[in-house]
Amino acid sequence: MTPMLADSYGRVATDLRVSLTDRCNLRCSYCMPPEGLEWLPKPELLTDDELNRLIRIGVTILGIEEVRFTGGEPLLRRGLPGIIAAATALRPRPRTALTTNGIGLHRTAPALAEAGLDRVNVSLDTLRPDVFEKLARRRRLDDVLEGMAGAAAAGLTPVKVNAVLMRDINDDEAPELLRYCMEHGYQLRFIEQMPLDAQHGWRRDTMITADEILDRLSASFSLEAADASTRGSAPAELFYVDGGPATVGVIGSVTRPFCGACDRVRLTADGQIRNCLFAREESDLRSLLRDGATDDEIADRWTAAVATKLPGHGINDPTFLQPARPMSAIGG
Ligand code: GTP
Ligand code: 5AD
Ligand code: SF4
Repeated sequence: MTPMLADSYGRVATDLRVSLTDRCNLRCSYCMPPEGLEWLPKPELLTDDELNRLIRIGVTILGIEEVRFTGGEPLLRRGLPGIIAAATALRPRPRTALTTNGIGLHRTAPALAEAGLDRVNVSLDTLRPDVFEKLARRRRLDDVLEGMAGAAAAGLTPVKVNAVLMRDINDDEAPELLRYCMEHGYQLRFIEQMPLDAQHGWRRDTMITADEILDRLSASFSLEAADASTRGSAPAELFYVDGGPATVGVIGSVTRPFCGACDRVRLTADGQIRNCLFAREESDLRSLLRDGATDDEIADRWTAAVATKLPGHGINDPTFLQPARPMSAIGG
């Protein structure tokens, strides 16, 4: 039997989220300051070969079934098609997905599909160029829209779209975003903002909650909750829009936590295992790798890292402390 990445609460990690870089070509205000961050030094980043080896250990020894590539912005990693091809050549073949801001995706989507990538999720918070520039501090809206279209044309479907609503910035745009995504056949999900920004600017009292998102959408559409039994470990609660078949998702990480069904484990671009987005500790696989450890020794440390996973993210606890690394360095 394949050894499993199990924790003490009975959850099993089968979804590996791999951050390929902490860098990004946008500066979304819920993530990074305008000047960017101090990026990880190159020697600390896993090489493509090191990454491929860890993914192989995850899939062939530890029962990982799905590999998601994130960042930072994963399209900035030059070796991406090769990394995807190495993952999809493994047996059993893992499902693969990419979470990206979409810039450059129009150009690279055919090569990514060719490498075996199954699907993409693209971040899109606004359809208004001026709001995009204010929020992401770059004029790249057209690139993102083009990237989404390119992904769909290359068959990287379903294209899922992530929108974080921020009060007094884009919170009036929910119906517009949903109409656009329905017209283009994309699956839109609205996300509650989490306390993961580098500037520690998150405030509970200004966060747009899942309830508020649903209220706003209900003013323009009829929503009917999809059968909850089909949700599994997915963060998004789905609702049929105007009788379906189109759906809209709501990811209520803060007010409707889904930690009890979590099946995720994360690998940072510098080779650290995190058993949760909000973990306070990391397990160093990079040093083990570079010290000549065997596959089994690496798998053992990974298993031990998952075993100590806490029951939940703790955002709603009075003693909550934001993780030391921001989301761009952990992996989205
Ligand atoms: P799919 O629906 O299968 O594509 O997965 P996904 O929704 O996890 O993918 P994506 O990478 O697009 O993540 C969407 C959002 O889910 C992120 O912006 C986060 O807000 C939230 N999310 C992802 N992973 C976690 C997690 O481990 N914990 C929590 N609380 N939220 C997460
Ligand atoms: N809270 C919630 N979602 C966030 N993302 C980035 N920062 C945050 C945050 N603080 C989203 C991005 C992207 C996904 C990887 O995570 O919009 O879609
Ligand atoms: Fe980049 Fe994603 Fe952070 Fe925006 S949210 S700055 S796209 S890493």
